[in-house]
This record gives sequence, structure tokens and C-alpha cells, in this order.
Amino acid sequence: MSSETPQQTDAPPLTEQLAPGTATDPPVRSTDAATVTVDGTRVEVEAGATLLDAVEAVDTEDDVPALCSYGRQEIGPRSECRTCMVGTDEHGVVPACSFPATDGLTVQTAAADAAEARDVNLDLVLSDHNLRCTTCGKNGRCELQDAAIEQEVEEPRYGVLDDRDEYEPIDDSSSFIQIDRNKCILCNRCVEACNDVQVEGVLRIEGTGQDTRIGFQSDAETMEDSTCVSCGHCVTVCPTGSLVEKGIEDATTIPLPGFTQKNSVGKTYESTGKSKGPMTPKKRTERTPEKPTNEMIDAPTDDSTSSDAWDDDAQSGGDWL
Ligand code: SF4
Ligand code: SF4
Ligand code: FES
Repeated sequence: MSSETPQQTDAPPLTEQLAPGTATDPPVRSTDAATVTVDGTRVEVEAGATLLDAVEAVDTEDDVPALCSYGRQEIGPRSECRTCMVGTDEHGVVPACSFPATDGLTVQTAAADAAEARDVNLDLVLSDHNLRCTTCGKNGRCELQDAAIEQEVEEPRYGVLDDRDEYEPIDDSSSFIQIDRNKCILCNRCVEACNDVQVEGVLRIEGTGQDTRIGFQSDAETMEDSTCVSCGHCVTVCPTGSLVEKGIEDATTIPLPGFTQKNSVGKTYESTGKSKGPMTPKKRTERTPEKPTNEMIDAPTDDSTSSDAWDDDAQSGGDWL
């Protein structure tokens, strides 16, 4: 066997394949306007459409959940959850969110193999979730809950998080955002919102297999110690109760005496008290060393609403970014 290093001169420089935003995502949209038939109905879609756009334009025979699809801004499609599978005459079962809507395609949402794939994949997503909906602040406004109700899920075939694993502590350390990873379906929306839209580079997906989780690029353990600037964008795109704005984290909890989201799942990372104001301390120090110290800021208390806290930012200068 030769000990020579193989020639790699044919490979293009990595930078030629990379560009800002989601340029590393595969080209998954149509390049031209197209006419697609969905459950027997012809639908015209614009250039850049996916099969999911066509599916959402008609009254389909089966519901197609599409949990990891956000479809706005520079977010996705990433084809992570596979709850959007549909049958096509031309290509068999495909993920609708990331399949280009090219001219002449014929889609059946109720195709047996596609419906089975959606059901299995939704059950897989649910198996990573603790299903404590009654103590969740997103109860009644959660896309996963909506999908489970629409698909008439009664008992996910792979169980739920409670059956299999230990809980991760709730990260309640930030003054603005609560993270409950036990409700995270790893859809990646928040990561793209933080990195590709806000360009803050705070969040990442880390780990492998069942240990895969939302983490911080700075290796921080808590939100308070991360470089988060508390813009809240990740919260607005999260489809579940995994990322929730502080102040309304219990907004739709069904009140049971002595039973709350936090005390029902074990350990919680609380704020150390350092995190006052619109940015976490680490970010504030990195960006604005000349600004007042935490102690000098007339900061909101931990039980302030986040909007109060952001107002406080405006009053105390508001130009920290
Ligand atoms: S709130 Fe923090 S983690 Fe979320 S998008 Fe903004 S900077 Fe990123
Ligand atoms: S925290 Fe929310 S948005 Fe982020 S990956 Fe988990 S479920 Fe998706
Ligand atoms: S919505 Fe298509 S794979 Fe998740």
C-alpha cells in the first residue's frame, strides 16, 4: 500500500461552496412556475415553490403536518422531521417540504405508504417529547399538539420521553427566554433563526443519537452564560414549548394546585442574578466594555415581563447592538 497522501487538487476550495445564510442547504425549490396536481386538483405554483406549497394551496384528502417547516425568512426547508411525506406518481414517497414543485408532478396525500410514513415519523417525533401539555405555556398554541390532534394520535407507538429517559433540567437562567429541551423536536428552526436571520451565532445542534440537543456555540451550559442577545427570534419560530418567552411561560398552563411546569420535571437552572438588562453578561462584556456594569443598570427584576425589560433597554441607551 502506498504511503503517499492522495491528490485532492480536483476538490474546489470550501469557500466556493459556502455563502452567507442558508446557502449550504441543498437547492430544493423549483426553478420555474409549475402546474402540479394534488389529490386530483391542478394547482399552479410560482418559481421557488415546493410540493408543500402546492399541498397547502388545496383542500387535501389527508392532513400533512410539516412540523420542521417554517417557510418564511431564510429558514429551511431542512427536511428534519419527515412528517410531511406525500406520495407522487413520479418519485414515490417524498418529503413535501423539500421537494421542488416541478411541472406535471402528481401528488396523493392519502397514498397508504405516505400516510404510514407520516404516522411513523410523527410518533418518532413524539417519542422525544414529554407530552406534559397541561403544564406547558404553549398549551393550545403548539404545532406539535395540533399535529397530534389532527392525526388522532392516542398512544405514540414508540412511547414518550417519560417512558424512556431522564429529563434535562429546564434552563430558566435567562431573564427573557426559558428553554425546556424535554419538549424540543430538533427541528432546527431556532438555530437557523439565530444564525441565518439574526446572524448572532448563539445556538447550535450538538451531540448525537438520543443525546442530540439544542446547545450553545460558545459551549456555555446555560442561556444566561451564553452569548445570547435576547432578541427573541428563536422563540418566535419554535413550534413547541421548548423555547418560550419569560413572563408568559405559564400563560396557558392548566392550573393545578402546586403543580407547575418547573416543579413537574425536576431540576431547573435558575438565574444567578447576574443577568439583568437586555443582553446576557458575557455578550455585554464582549461588545460594550465601556458600558455601565450590571450593578449600575437600573435593571428589571426577574419577575418583570420581558417587554418591560426591553423597554428598559431603550431607556438606558438602547444602542448596545
Ligand atoms: S434570543 Fe438569543 S438564542 Fe435566540 S435568536 Fe436571539 S440571539 Fe439567538
Ligand atoms: S428549541 Fe424549538 S425551534 Fe429549536 S430545535 Fe427545538 S423545537 Fe425546534
Ligand atoms: S416538514 Fe418536511 S421534513 Fe419536516
